[in-house]
Amino acid sequence: MVKVRQYVGWSLGLLVILGIGMVMISPYVQLNPAQSRIRLESSFSLHYALLTTHIFLAFIALVIGPLQFIPGVRRRFLFVHQNIGRVYLSCVLISGIAGFIVGLYTRDFTSQIAFLTLAVLWLISATMAYRAIRRRRIAEHFTWMVRNYAFTLVAVVARIIVPLSILVQLLRGHLSRPLNISQILDTTLGTGIWLALVLNLLVAEWLILQRVQRTAKRGVI
Ligand code: HEM
Repeated sequence: MVKVRQYVGWSLGLLVILGIGMVMISPYVQLNPAQSRIRLESSFSLHYALLTTHIFLAFIALVIGPLQFIPGVRRRFLFVHQNIGRVYLSCVLISGIAGFIVGLYTRDFTSQIAFLTLAVLWLISATMAYRAIRRRRIAEHFTWMVRNYAFTLVAVVARIIVPLSILVQLLRGHLSRPLNISQILDTTLGTGIWLALVLNLLVAEWLILQRVQRTAKRGVI
């Protein structure tokens, strides 16, 4: 029964991540700069190329990341885990660097600092996870990968928080009329990213603590 619940939980989680991820990348799949949801900086010729590199590689990391946490795959098919891990970390590395550069051109200041902080945390946690596994420190590698995927998920959680936060502001009459949707999105996105960052990090640390406690109970530390 527990196994069935776990299976249903994993499948639902993956479906939600895949769904939101696909909605996020949809304006970019035709590689048409005119469809970009963010305003492109005309003085920066690589803006769109770096943005799309960031988006597609981040999407791959987002989708393959959860597979790394399925215990059965790790135990029974270690080579699959290793190869997916290499692809995942390469995607995070390239997408993180591209995301950092694109973030230098983000217009809203709160969003900009949120994106830049997120990019640095994404790259540092990936480096720490890689270093730990090169030194065969499995528990440390697991801990850094949980944190790293929590950062990957910030993009998704923020896209859930932003519409909810706009709805709350509308209901409380905090938005001036006529509504300027693009300006509202610009200012709410920064808050959404910060909130998602704190929330995801708290959940990640809680999951890590749970695992440490479970391991300690079994007396295997
Ligand atoms: C976790 C680290 C991430 C960082 C640091 C980051 C950084 C950025 C930055 C700086 C922008 C430009 C925003 C602007 O200038 O207004 C952006 C846009 C975007 N990112 Fe990321 N991102 C991350 C993760 C992801 C993930 C996992 C996805 C999933 C597909 C993703 C998809 C997108 C999309 C679709 C856009 C275009 C904006 C939009 O159309 O809403 N990002 N990102």
